[in-house]
Amino acid sequence: MGQFDGKIALVTGAARGIGQATALKLAAGGADIALCDLQKEWIAETEAKVKALGRRAESFAMNVANSEDVTRAVGEVEKAFGRIDVLVNNAGITKDGLLMRMSEEDWDDVLDINLKGTFLCTKAVSRIMMKQRSGSIVNVASIIGLIGNAGQCNYSASKAGVIALTKSVAKELAPRNIRANAVAPGFISTKMTDNLPEEIQKKMLDNIPLKRFGTPDDVANVIVFLAGDEAAYVSGQVLTVCGGMVT
Ligand SMILES: NC(=O)c1ccc[n+]([C@@H]2O[C@H](COP(=O)([O-])OP(=O)(O)OC[C@H]3O[C@@H](n4cnc5c(N)ncnc54)[C@H](O)[C@@H]3O)[C@@H](O)[C@H]2O)c1
Repeated sequence: MGQFDGKIALVTGAARGIGQATALKLAAGGADIALCDLQKEWIAETEAKVKALGRRAESFAMNVANSEDVTRAVGEVEKAFGRIDVLVNNAGITKDGLLMRMSEEDWDDVLDINLKGTFLCTKAVSRIMMKQRSGSIVNVASIIGLIGNAGQCNYSASKAGVIALTKSVAKELAPRNIRANAVAPGFISTKMTDNLPEEIQKKMLDNIPLKRFGTPDDVANVIVFLAGDEAAYVSGQVLTVCGGMVT
């Protein structure tokens, strides 16, 4: 028996990386999964992998930054599955640049997807969780939201916002038996980080006490812990997954 047997989880940004790893670990724990990403076709691989684990999976196109899209897709998920027990707000992007060169568009895009997207999905799904009087929300923040980083003022502000949002939501929804927590990954090997120049990757590795980059599974393990009943008395917390970089 898995800890998520009979439960429904919605994962955003589920096509690849940390989102895909999380969907697979939740499914391995017994959950049926609503997979969301910008385009349905991108999610086909994750959907097939969840089904191969013997769980139900359905894919939904959703731009987390668009409120109409979020309302429509969450409505479709509710219609298809009847409930939502776990929400993982994972979709996110970077558009790095030094402050003096950062365009307003790059600022807005990152804040819209990372922060407003988390707000919109949380609002739409918590309506369902409030009716159920149960639910667990895990937001994917970043250590950059805790410590900042040159060249990432938009990203760091968005992730600091996600952390603050998590704490407020945790306090607001606790009376309805809904928990909200965040993970703050460090440097994780995914498509998001693959493109960083080798020199920067080497510099980052020097600063990681555990002397390796994280994997999507490293983060997914912690998301699954926070999402499940083993963390039943944990809410409003930020757990770093960064090989000991931020202590
Ligand atoms: N990789 C890292 O080192 C790292 C570190 C800290 C935090 N994070 C965070 O982890 C999360 C996942 O990152 P990843 O490394 O797996 O990246 P990734 O780029 O591999 O995956 C991100 C996914 O989000 C989807 N997405 C992007 N914009 C979207 C939108 N508007 N609506 C719906 N889906 C959208 C993408 O299509 C993609 O499938 C992000 O929030 C990221 O900020 C990553």
